[in-house]
Amino acid sequence: MSDFAEPFRQLSTLLHRTRGDWQHTPFACRELPWPELAPVLMPLDEAQLDALDEDDAAALAFFAPLRPDTVAAHHYRLPELKRSTDYATPRWSNGIPGRKWAQIKDFAANISAEHPILEWCAGKGHLGRLLAQQGMPSVTSLEWNADLCRQGEQVAGQLKLDHHFVCADALSADAARLFRPGQEALALHACGELHLRFLRHAAAAGTHRLALSPCCYHLIDGDHYRPLSTAGRQRDLHLDRQSLRLPLQQQVTGGERVRRLRHVELSWRLAFDELQQQLTGNARYLPLPSFPKQLLSGDFADFARWACEQKSLPVPDGIDSEHWLKLADARRLLVKRIELVRHRYRYLLELWLLLDRAVYLEEQGYHVSLGTFTAESNTPRRYLLLASRS
Ligand SMILES: C[S@@+](CC[C@H](N)C(=O)[O-])C[C@H]1O[C@@H](n2cnc3c(N)ncnc32)[C@H](O)[C@@H]1O
Repeated sequence: MSDFAEPFRQLSTLLHRTRGDWQHTPFACRELPWPELAPVLMPLDEAQLDALDEDDAAALAFFAPLRPDTVAAHHYRLPELKRSTDYATPRWSNGIPGRKWAQIKDFAANISAEHPILEWCAGKGHLGRLLAQQGMPSVTSLEWNADLCRQGEQVAGQLKLDHHFVCADALSADAARLFRPGQEALALHACGELHLRFLRHAAAAGTHRLALSPCCYHLIDGDHYRPLSTAGRQRDLHLDRQSLRLPLQQQVTGGERVRRLRHVELSWRLAFDELQQQLTGNARYLPLPSFPKQLLSGDFADFARWACEQKSLPVPDGIDSEHWLKLADARRLLVKRIELVRHRYRYLLELWLLLDRAVYLEEQGYHVSLGTFTAESNTPRRYLLLASRS
């Protein structure tokens, strides 16, 4: 009996039906894609749009009369899994930031002490080390960064722990051989393709227990997500990287400075887009790659010159910043109106991706639990899949 098949089916139906709400590229839009929402979205000024977008509960209440099924789907909440009873820091944990330490302690609270541990994409192996200290039979941490492996080995040696590193590429064919049946395999914040391989290798090896907290769903091989589960493939949403990024676009309420930087970045990206459309005569949105935030501390003309070089465009002699930034103002409001709608699908798309993983593990003969393992204030990526085979 599957716990997740029916909610997955219902959510798939909703997301198929509402794809016109979440599948837009806001930067590429020149008008609101939903004329029927214009009477409620157009009167909102920028401050109102920002305030509403940052307050998920208020935004859902705002959309309840307009998108009742989307709002109702948010009632499917995932349970809280076990949490650590104390967050006291041992001497060796010096240097691990408090929120990271809390995540590790909470993740570890969900691990049984019965089997040797395989820690996937371990970094310095903080989680593995904690488990080795708690007396887990033996811990192997896979990590490809040699420096992190060396540092992790060193601390394990000092503490005389049964904790060892394998310095290798998790995407190599050899990495699959690390998985065994009588084992508990863990992955804390492994990115897209890395955790998809983790799940496939573990299921193929018949690994007894798994614990995975996924992140960065968009970092996958290929341009589109291929669902893991048979049920997911039957109801494939054909998610591209842009849609896979949506769950990661949580508002981080990082204070006034962060908010101001976000405002400048959005304005400058749009102002550059106006400029490049005039330079190329092509009315198509041209995305810029991500860039160091220090580029935003100069002026727009310097930024535009950098962006032209990135896109191999001729750098214009004089750049009238005021003109381009003014054009960006109107587009910025449009982007924010579209994002206000799209962001109401962040949780639902992440839930769909999590349920696809949960249903896949059920199809592979696992009993699965899915919930949150740590407080939201510690990390927005706080979902944990636990699976065991009898
Ligand atoms: C987000 S960090 C998570 C580290 C650790 N699990 C934690 O939560 O602190 C991802 C880790 O995966 C490692 N990594 C990335 N790609 C890898 C690959 N192809 N093979 C092995 N490790 C990889 C990175 O070096 C990094 O240490």
